[in-house]
Amino acid sequence: MTPSSPAPLTVIPPVSRQVCVVGAGYVGLTAAACLSHLGHRVRCLEADEHRLNQLRHGRVPIHEPGLDELVAEGMASGRLSFLDDTEQALRGAEVALLCVGTPPQPNGEPDLGHLAAAARQLARAAARDLIIVVKSTVPPGSCEALELIVAAEARAGVRIRVASSPEFLRESQAVADFLAPDRVVVGAEEREVAEVVVSLYPPGSQVVHCDRRGAELVKYAANTMLAVKISFANEVARLCEALGTDAATVLEGVGLDSRIGAAFLRPGPGYGGSCLPKDVAGFRAVGAALDVPTPVADAAERQNVLARESVTDKLRLSLGRLAGARIAVLGLAFKPGTDDTRDSPGVAIARWLVAAGAQLRCHDPLTGPMAGLGRWEPTPEAAVTGADATVITIGCEEFRHLDLTALAERMAGHVLIDAAGVIDLDAAAAAGLSVYGVGRGTALDFHPIVWAPLQWAHPVAVPTC
Ligand SMILES: NC(=O)c1ccc[n+]([C@@H]2O[C@H](COP(=O)([O-])OP(=O)(O)OC[C@H]3O[C@@H](n4cnc5c(N)ncnc54)[C@H](O)[C@@H]3O)[C@@H](O)[C@H]2O)c1
Repeated sequence: MTPSSPAPLTVIPPVSRQVCVVGAGYVGLTAAACLSHLGHRVRCLEADEHRLNQLRHGRVPIHEPGLDELVAEGMASGRLSFLDDTEQALRGAEVALLCVGTPPQPNGEPDLGHLAAAARQLARAAARDLIIVVKSTVPPGSCEALELIVAAEARAGVRIRVASSPEFLRESQAVADFLAPDRVVVGAEEREVAEVVVSLYPPGSQVVHCDRRGAELVKYAANTMLAVKISFANEVARLCEALGTDAATVLEGVGLDSRIGAAFLRPGPGYGGSCLPKDVAGFRAVGAALDVPTPVADAAERQNVLARESVTDKLRLSLGRLAGARIAVLGLAFKPGTDDTRDSPGVAIARWLVAAGAQLRCHDPLTGPMAGLGRWEPTPEAAVTGADATVITIGCEEFRHLDLTALAERMAGHVLIDAAGVIDLDAAAAAGLSVYGVGRGTALDFHPIVWAPLQWAHPVAVPTC
């Protein structure tokens, strides 16, 4: 039997384990709270003093539906605590989850410095055998490398094994995803290790068990596939704009094919966040390191740059200029339902506009003000007042239900760039707004004569008249 096709894992009845979670960010804090909810006893290590203090006082530093309640439940039950002392956090623990950041470096390769430091920290403090589970997103081969690093640091007689179990939660539904995952991926060559890892998760989860390199690649490949779908939707949207047809309907027609699926086939300002851009770059970096071309991932990244640029192009073309233009940007988070602005299309667009000399007023329902992005406004109404143009970058409820007549009255101009595809075009037209969307709305580069298919239908030249 090959390591990538092991026999199905034995189903273990629910057990309560002592777990150490390293890093209380989106992944670590969600995992810690959900694991304690599932009955495990969790000690969560956090290096950031401010974040740790907030958590010790029961304050959850990130916005995730249901997370506050689970953290409160875990702390009240005594099954969840937050610490900065590694030895104390490891006391009695047989498993430690590594959930620290793996940010991209300028060349696209992930920075594994935090991960290696955290693994060393665990290895030095472990007084008994330990299984380290890497939940952070890492390139294939990382777990094997970490195992060598920790072996060099471990105390005499202590055996530390490293397994992979990448995290797939989506920000804004992190708790729901952790408690009802589509699948749990476990990379461990030893069955005993794999079974311990599986026993942490909700009973009944669908498990994919493979070797560590395979598990690590699942995460990169899954996020690259999602990015490819988004970029393909944006490519179709560009064609729709030139043809004067509606991308949402075209993509609905594509996505209803059960072989393709509708998820992530929505046009917009491109993908962003802390995962997709980083993981596509990581996937490409793995290809480059192995001398394996990755043209599909390369193209997804190129199309994503075009998607962001197309928003500023529409503004420039519809306003005639950006310098001095008063522009309202609605949406700084990278998607609705989160306060995360990491690699957000809205922030990238706002930065370009500032660099082009526009005067910005920004609003987002969940993020706070951001330095260097013009004036922050507490409501969308305040942000659009006096604006020559308004840009909507995310499809949150607040922007879906904007009163378009009131919006048009408050604005000085009439240009609305609906990059999120949330505006009712008829209502906007009735309010006197000119909407430029992604693959819908008013076309800026409409090609009225589709002459090419006529020529393609004839083996000989079409006579001109
Ligand atoms: N955010 C997501 O939606 C998501 C989803 C799936 C996978 N991931 C992956 O999970 C990993 C973590 O992502 P995140 O968004 O939770 O990161 P994050 O930056 O929000 O959180 C990381 C936390 O780890 C802490 N930390 C760093 N080193 C530490 C140490 N030695 N000891 C204790 N604490 C330490 C940091 O202070 C921070 O609070 C990344 O590899 C990411 O790619 C993220």
